[in-house]
Amino acid sequence: ALLFCNATFVFAQQYDESKVPAYTLPDPLLTLSGQAVKDARTWENARRPEVLRLFEDNIYGQMPRDFDSIRFITTREDARAMGGKALLKETRIDVYRGGQSVSIHLTLFVPGKASRPVPVFLLINNRGKNNTDADRKTKSPFWPAEMVTDSGYAIAAFHVSDLAPDDASAYASGLLRLYPEQLRAPNGMKAIGAWAWGASRVMDYFMKEKLVDTKKVVLVGHSRGGKTSLWAAAQDQRFAICVTNCSGNTGAALARRQFGERIKRINTSFPHWFSDNYKKYNDRENDLPVDQHMLIALIAPRPVYATNATKDLWADPTGTFLSLKNAEKVFALYGLRSALPAAPPPVNQAVENSILGYHNREGVHDMTEFDWRHFIRFARIHFAKK
Ligand code: GCU
Repeated sequence: ALLFCNATFVFAQQYDESKVPAYTLPDPLLTLSGQAVKDARTWENARRPEVLRLFEDNIYGQMPRDFDSIRFITTREDARAMGGKALLKETRIDVYRGGQSVSIHLTLFVPGKASRPVPVFLLINNRGKNNTDADRKTKSPFWPAEMVTDSGYAIAAFHVSDLAPDDASAYASGLLRLYPEQLRAPNGMKAIGAWAWGASRVMDYFMKEKLVDTKKVVLVGHSRGGKTSLWAAAQDQRFAICVTNCSGNTGAALARRQFGERIKRINTSFPHWFSDNYKKYNDRENDLPVDQHMLIALIAPRPVYATNATKDLWADPTGTFLSLKNAEKVFALYGLRSALPAAPPPVNQAVENSILGYHNREGVHDMTEFDWRHFIRFARIHFAKK
């Protein structure tokens, strides 16, 4: 009983705004050598690479780019899917390195009447595979394919387990077989890095796929998938828009607020997500050279949409909003002004006509049709400007 109490004490969650400690966020516009960043060029040439590196070395691990070859194999094509409304294309993406390979299975629906190529929403699926059922026997609000194709957009998904099983004892059996050196490096990638790497290989495929408008790819992730969508979009500038849904700790929420889930807790429950170096920051949020607003800043000038749910305090809705707010000054270097209010908007009220978008939906930790409706509107607004 005593042990149990101890464990509860160690991980007691803090949901009281008045107990958020005073904190100072690292300044995205100040280089490590103390130079103030005043324009987009200096951001891109000096500070951005530095910040990317800090996230790589301290949190998510490296993102290796070398592989021997990649192949795209169409495994199924049905021009009359979804009752004739859409084209279904399933593709196997095989990537080889050092005599080993991984296969990513991609499901893609393209609206039948669309003037091609069309923008696409790509989901990093971290939940059941039946959520992205190609036969549409199961229709899940988590991936509302009909709703998206009816809106004139394509929708695609791959499952994280193709890259790394979401399991501390098995995560290395996927992509990491191709990059064994990552397992030995203190800044080596683990599961979330591998999932993000997979999103980029899907992007490689889109570049060869005539059905898809490669300038208009929206990357979507929920929760651990939303941590991944941010990291992938920060690394790979081909993603046009990033959506991060209820991504919380080490996603869109500020770590220094120590509200809801904390670094020690996430590293303990999910030791296979982030690099070994990240464990150094257990209970030491303030020692991090970055905070999560800087991850959002790395995506600039591309639009970012973040969400929360009112009953999901674990993911710190206020901390997510503040992360977006503190990224604003990097977007401002590009002359982009966000329309976010000074304080979080009312529940269910979406800020969409803004380079940084946000809503806090009533309800629990999930991704719903309400959320998707706003992702579609956000994309429509920003793609109209392109
Ligand atoms: C856990 C974890 C979160 C994560 C969530 C999810 O709650 O603590 O960090 O976002 O799972 O992926 O649903």
